[in-house]
Amino acid sequence: EYLMPELPLPQQGDPGLRLLRRVGTVDPASLDDYRAAGGYAALRNAFLLGPQGVIREVTDAKLMGRGGAAFPTGRKWAATAGQPVRPHYLVCNADESEPGTFKDRVLMEGDPFGVIEAMTVAAYATGCTRGYLYIRGEYPRAFSLLRNAIAVCRERGFLGPSVMGQPGFDFDIEIRRGAGAYICGEETAIFNSIEGFRGEPRSKPPFPVEKGLFGRPTVVNNVETLANVLLILTEGCEAFQQVGTAGSTGSKLFCVSGTVPKPGVYEVPFGATLRELLELAGGVDDLRAVLLGGAAGGFLRPDEIDLPLTMEDARTAGTTLGSGVVLVLDGTVDVGGFLLRIAEFFRDESCGQCVPCRIGTVRQEEALHRIVQRKGDAQDLVLLRDVGQVMRDSSICGLGQTAWNAIESAIDRLGVQL
Ligand code: NAI
Ligand code: SF4
Repeated sequence: EYLMPELPLPQQGDPGLRLLRRVGTVDPASLDDYRAAGGYAALRNAFLLGPQGVIREVTDAKLMGRGGAAFPTGRKWAATAGQPVRPHYLVCNADESEPGTFKDRVLMEGDPFGVIEAMTVAAYATGCTRGYLYIRGEYPRAFSLLRNAIAVCRERGFLGPSVMGQPGFDFDIEIRRGAGAYICGEETAIFNSIEGFRGEPRSKPPFPVEKGLFGRPTVVNNVETLANVLLILTEGCEAFQQVGTAGSTGSKLFCVSGTVPKPGVYEVPFGATLRELLELAGGVDDLRAVLLGGAAGGFLRPDEIDLPLTMEDARTAGTTLGSGVVLVLDGTVDVGGFLLRIAEFFRDESCGQCVPCRIGTVRQEEALHRIVQRKGDAQDLVLLRDVGQVMRDSSICGLGQTAWNAIESAIDRLGVQL
């Protein structure tokens, strides 16, 4: 099977690492090594706390989702746990497909047992008996390591009936692979994909916590979000909050790519500045811009890189940390061509279900193409803004709602002359 090259992890072995502490230092195929490195202490603590106690810890830790939208995890868990309808399902969203995002891949390849343990904790807290790990098809190494971890855990009583001997707690995990569609990372499209339908998003509300997979209450958590749960349960919510800021607790994985000397996944506490992160990655001469948060996020100018990397500061600056994308562009990058590539991507990946996005992404790309080729006129810029706003206001899901974000920010923040 085609194997991707290993991802660079420039901080490997740094004792300050938290989420990445086992990556590259513990054999990802060995449950015994995982346990020797602290594995399954979190689940044992979860059993002592009981489901409500676990949810309280996660809520008090102020953990927010790390897939991109930063929704409070404790609130999501409490909402599912409180649903009387059974069964409840757990979905680990490992479809990581946002361009420039590769942090979950590092966790899955380097700490697969951690992913399984964290899913088990989440299932215990929220009353789920079955979990699905939905992983993007382009991650073959992560897939085989996770498949191995699930089989070993099942064999050794860490999955299946009475997990770790805990009476009444049965939980097992099925792994499902995506088939290359970006939209299948949208949580409700995942449900359709698992159920055997076309991977098209559903309208929200109802939210998955109430009506999700197979119409049942469902918790959907990103891989990195779950990795934080293990820390919260081993060190306690107080200690967890000592890292980061009051509004953004803990640390965050950032995917630094583009024109930097040392691209890779970096872990820094929330509140570190973008400048500090870029320095870790070797610094940038002739910085032109940084795309923060992915295509749904926005560009920052070189004079804005003292921005503290927190959810709240990003919001104030008119962008988002999203899934942790830090894509660096120096003066050699053709920004027009880069934007055109983003527009092509959204046109290609639109599922076509709703008109504003299906047609809007095509019109956006066409207008941008004319402008970049210097064949456009002032009307094309008006058209771009018009189409972008319609997509934002009336698309069903995040893809259409954000397909114009990066292009708009290039025009308005960077002053890119299209
Ligand atoms: P969203 O804001 O609709 O939802 C975020 C989460 O909170 C979902 O799980 C949703 O079910 C839950 N939620 C929201 N309101 C709720 C309520 N009232 N009650 C209960 N649960 C509620 O955002 P969405 O569309 O799920 O995600 C958008 C983000 O995904 C973007 O910020 C983007 O950065 C990111 N993204 C990440 C990718 C990746 O590869 N990691 C790929 C594409 C997008
Ligand atoms: Fe599909 Fe785009 Fe509509 Fe989302 S916004 S449902 S991707 S057509």
